[in-house]
Amino acid sequence: MTIITIFGTGKMGAAIAALAGRASAQVQSISHREAVRKIAGDIVVLAVPYPALVGIADQYRDQLAGKTVVDITNPVDFATFSPLSIPAGSAAQELAQSLPNSRVVKAFNTNFAGTVATGTVGNGPTLVLIAGDNAEAKTAVIDMVTRSGALGVDAGPLTRAHQLEGLGLLQMGLAASGGLPWTGGLTLAT
Ligand SMILES: NC(=O)c1ccc[n+]([C@@H]2O[C@H](COP(=O)([O-])OP(=O)(O)OC[C@H]3O[C@@H](n4cnc5c(N)ncnc54)[C@H](OP(=O)(O)O)[C@@H]3O)[C@@H](O)[C@H]2O)c1
Repeated sequence: MTIITIFGTGKMGAAIAALAGRASAQVQSISHREAVRKIAGDIVVLAVPYPALVGIADQYRDQLAGKTVVDITNPVDFATFSPLSIPAGSAAQELAQSLPNSRVVKAFNTNFAGTVATGTVGNGPTLVLIAGDNAEAKTAVIDMVTRSGALGVDAGPLTRAHQLEGLGLLQMGLAASGGLPWTGGLTLAT
């Protein structure tokens, strides 16, 4: 059975736990300030604010080695609603530099929590765009998303995280201005 560890028990942590449950994965949820002796999952989702990534990476670097680490953050200055400047190109690329022995994947940042929790947007499955450089890691995340009933789509290498983070910000802006409901989101028409 797939085991997924989720750091963060907020809106996205709970939503991804629900998705993982639908995919018949076992979930280990880790709350803020909880001391973790052993990270159980082969897939580890960091469902925390962007500024929290560095502390988790520093604290758990050895345990995260060899694991698929999923960055879902949208690095935004919420005072000005503008993107944070990240020299690495994106939060996910910065995390990958900080965790050189982990397989970092970007996913879920272009989804609102409600649509991850339900697995649907409009009349169709929630579209989860997934970027990463390690094919096996990316496939593991796509498989989990697909088994849950949502639609996992390969968005390319980890450099695409820059565009995904831009898309996340754009989508948040649309929702904040009333142009898109928080229950809505992107779909791929074919
Ligand atoms: N909400 C969305 O629709 C959405 C969509 C796409 C992406 N995201 C991204 O998902 C991430 C989580 O967002 P959210 O909406 O789930 O936020 P949230 O509801 O505020 O939950 C954040 C979680 O992270 C924990 N946390 C905060 N600082 C931490 C630290 N230093 N170390 C460990 N855990 C820490 C919080 O614990 P405490 O509450 O105890 O502080 C809480 O469990 C963010 O990066 C956000 O950009 C969110």
